[in-house]
Amino acid sequence: MTYLKLYNGVQIPQLGFGVYQIPEYEQAKQAVLAAFRTGYRLIDTAQAYGNERAVGDALRESGLPREEVFLTSKVWLSDFSYDGAIRATKETLSRLGVDYVDMMLLHQPMGDYINAWKGLEEMYRAGKIRAIGMANCYPLVLADLCETFAIKPMVNQVEMHPFFQQTLNLQTMQHYGVIPQAWAPFNEGKRNLFGDPTLTEIGRKYGKSAAQVALRWNLQRGVVVIPKTVHEDRMKQNIDVFDFSLSEEDMAKIAAMDIGHSEIVDHFDPKWIAMLHTISV
Ligand SMILES: NC(=O)c1ccc[n+]([C@@H]2O[C@H](COP(=O)([O-])OP(=O)(O)OC[C@H]3O[C@@H](n4cnc5c(N)ncnc54)[C@H](OP(=O)(O)O)[C@@H]3O)[C@@H](O)[C@H]2O)c1
Repeated sequence: MTYLKLYNGVQIPQLGFGVYQIPEYEQAKQAVLAAFRTGYRLIDTAQAYGNERAVGDALRESGLPREEVFLTSKVWLSDFSYDGAIRATKETLSRLGVDYVDMMLLHQPMGDYINAWKGLEEMYRAGKIRAIGMANCYPLVLADLCETFAIKPMVNQVEMHPFFQQTLNLQTMQHYGVIPQAWAPFNEGKRNLFGDPTLTEIGRKYGKSAAQVALRWNLQRGVVVIPKTVHEDRMKQNIDVFDFSLSEEDMAKIAAMDIGHSEIVDHFDPKWIAMLHTISV
């Protein structure tokens, strides 16, 4: 495992385990327990995923010391106000059953995220959160809030995979010292990523799968990845990416796969934004 250092000195594992779309308690708990057995030490949950309790219970059942695990959660839009972010963070601590959370993100740069951020800053200063960050910021928004917030985000968690590379966003994060974290590092399997001919061909040279090449490519760009799977064999495969390196030629071939936009969400579609505002947790 490699680690990256956030600008406040906190170390973050460069590969973690995402638990989106595992809402059922027992399945989520078993998946996190299997991830711990496999060697994962970063769990990415959110209030909107409905499985913080399962994550916390898995941590206790695993017997791992609290300080060995990096726990991330996210405040949802319906709690975006100063008081709301503080209350939501306290609720996350209670559901996870921990005294502090390693990282808390604001799930979307929408609604009253300015005051919600002030609430996160307050909890950060109180030692309840070790790192604070944003999710889903495109370059314009990220630059604006880095210029606005008293404490700028330590991480920006966005969709990033070979089909949607977000090069300008990555450059903006590098400029502001914000660590990039990739959600959907497999494009949720869309565009047949797991059978993609370019990734498969590159992987053949190293005895690796297309999935492993996709993860390795992001690691070599300085990105933290949080792949999700409920299958233990895939968990093992997805973490087995630290014993090979892609060449410059491989990286250039993958760079050419970019289609330049998301096929999972559309943050530029007003209907999508309106829909997000209807979700309450
Ligand atoms: N901040 C945000 O707005 C946001 C949005 C989306 C996601 N996220 C975070 O990012 C994490 C990852 O993103 P994601 O879950 O959307 O998508 P993803 O990790 O790109 O893809 C997950 C899909 O890939 C399959 N899979 C995983 N490993 C595989 C392998 N080695 N071979 C074949 N199939 C494999 C999984 O199936 P099985 O489970 O059946 O194996 C699942 O269907 C989430 O869990 C969540 O923590 C954050």
